[in-house]
Amino acid sequence: MCGIIAASTERSIGKLLIQGLYKMEYRGYDSAGIAMHTENKVAHLRALGKVKLLEDLMINEKPKGKVGIAHTRWATHGEPSEVNAHPHQSNERIFIVHNGIIENYLELKDELASKGYAFTSKTDSELIAHLLDSYLEEGSSLLKATKQLKDKLQGAYAIAALDHSDPNTLVLARNRSPLLIGLGEDENFAASDPLALADLTNKFLILEDGDVAKISPNNVEIFDKNNKACKRDIQIIDIKSEAASKGDYKHFMEKEIYEQPNAILNTLDGRVGGDDVLENIFGEGSNNLFAKVKRIQIAACGTSLHAGRVAANWFSAIAGLPTQIDYASEYRYKNPYVDKNTLLVTISQSGETADTLAALRYAKDQKYLASLAICNVPTSSLARESDFLLLTNAGPEIGVASTKAFTTQLIALMLLTLSLAKASGTNPKLRSRVIQALRQMPDIVEKSLELKGDIVDIASEIAQQDNALFLGRGMFYPIAKEGALKLKEISYIHAEAYPAGELKHGPLALIDERMPVVAIAPEHELAEKLVSNLEEVKARGGALYVFGNAKEKLSLERGKYISMPECDFLLTPILYTIPLQILSYEVALIRGTDIDQPRNLAKSVTVE
Ligand code: F6R
Repeated sequence: MCGIIAASTERSIGKLLIQGLYKMEYRGYDSAGIAMHTENKVAHLRALGKVKLLEDLMINEKPKGKVGIAHTRWATHGEPSEVNAHPHQSNERIFIVHNGIIENYLELKDELASKGYAFTSKTDSELIAHLLDSYLEEGSSLLKATKQLKDKLQGAYAIAALDHSDPNTLVLARNRSPLLIGLGEDENFAASDPLALADLTNKFLILEDGDVAKISPNNVEIFDKNNKACKRDIQIIDIKSEAASKGDYKHFMEKEIYEQPNAILNTLDGRVGGDDVLENIFGEGSNNLFAKVKRIQIAACGTSLHAGRVAANWFSAIAGLPTQIDYASEYRYKNPYVDKNTLLVTISQSGETADTLAALRYAKDQKYLASLAICNVPTSSLARESDFLLLTNAGPEIGVASTKAFTTQLIALMLLTLSLAKASGTNPKLRSRVIQALRQMPDIVEKSLELKGDIVDIASEIAQQDNALFLGRGMFYPIAKEGALKLKEISYIHAEAYPAGELKHGPLALIDERMPVVAIAPEHELAEKLVSNLEEVKARGGALYVFGNAKEKLSLERGKYISMPECDFLLTPILYTIPLQILSYEVALIRGTDIDQPRNLAKSVTVE
């Protein structure tokens, strides 16, 4: 949701800023821009569209500079356009890039307009440049002006700013949007994501909410929310640069689907031993805490919420714990009733999703036993602000559609289920069985990747349609929802999911030869009822695409049966996710959509 990068160096930075933007394009890709001190002026280039167009502009204009800021945008206020693209400027003196939303922007805009500032864009961000300029007019330095800015702005922001008259210095501010400083030798950087700086440094200072910082090639000064000079600990973050490259794959999504066996291995690594889950893997004292847990509250968004929905089945069946699950965007508006000894669980790939963070922050004032996060990004706000944490260790996920983050969240949530069950001494035999099954998961998932050939056949049929239904029962209903979300997100086919038994209560009216129905049908206690539901589809001429392991139970007239590998029943939701990911990917490939950067979307949704 917008990516910002800034550099204060002694070398030419044009290429470096563009490379950084490419790595953050997953955060937004409707326009991009750059502002750089050059010999006699600030070069200011903006392009509507992806970073490539800005790069082309840079190649044409060839600006040379050592200090600058750059931005890739996901529009919130004002349509994608060149004038709405960042950096925004005021009086050709102050240039800023911003990620976040300024909630009181109308009021501030009026105030600035009455002082004579003319607005050229429809964004909420432009006022930041004018506000800084107005403080400079009153005699403030850029650093002082940025500190003053904090008293005015309401909302979320990560800001990098430069002043035309100070060619070495950049000023940064952070509140509820990610921003970190990368430390180099005689050069310093800042970015929304360490990935953007992975080729430049592995030493980072993570700014806290309310921080303002000033960086020059040889110096970094940080001031906390009370404007007191402060230090932030240096964190070493090593990101392999191949993580940000597609390698031999056509898309990041494809690469990330095929990385899943390894990603699952990494989630399990160091967390299981013998025939049980290891102690305190969620942090010191987590095992003692788990013994007190009587109830779980989950808050998450999108795919991460689907992982939570699967886990709710596990918490109840394996650990004997009831679970309440809510969209993070809804949770705090419903005055949630918090029962005694309830554990709050948030799930997020990025750890920066604004709604999930808001849920966590709201919950901190409620009477929860503790908060626990399942997250993929160690430096994220969610990871840092939660009492307990398990990192999924899936490696950077760059495709906007979540794949390996989801399956590793499920593995992490199963580890949580087992830890909760262990703490109360529940189901020791079952726990040991699941541990053995978890160890086999990387190989079983690897096997499921071989189904691609069969799935390509289905994809060519589904790609011709405008709608699709996904069916699943019990813990496969959230997997059906995830399959439908993936399909609509990257192929733009309208897709919905239903628990199979709900079909006859309305959606059956939609079934005809143009409505493909994808069913997740592993053999289990509900499978026979599911078969009856599928017969209802058949009887109405619908094409069925069934993923299961009991082919003999169903004869298909239209559609196809895909025989899935065997795995422990409790882990089948993880396994059955894989072919649905491949299906969406192959359908999108046929339809020629922008798979890694689908229209209107961005990864890491940092606005509420
Ligand atoms: C879908 C997808 C989104 C995210 C959601 C939450 O493929 O990626 O639905 O799952 O925006 O994001 P995180 O997990 O970063 O909180």
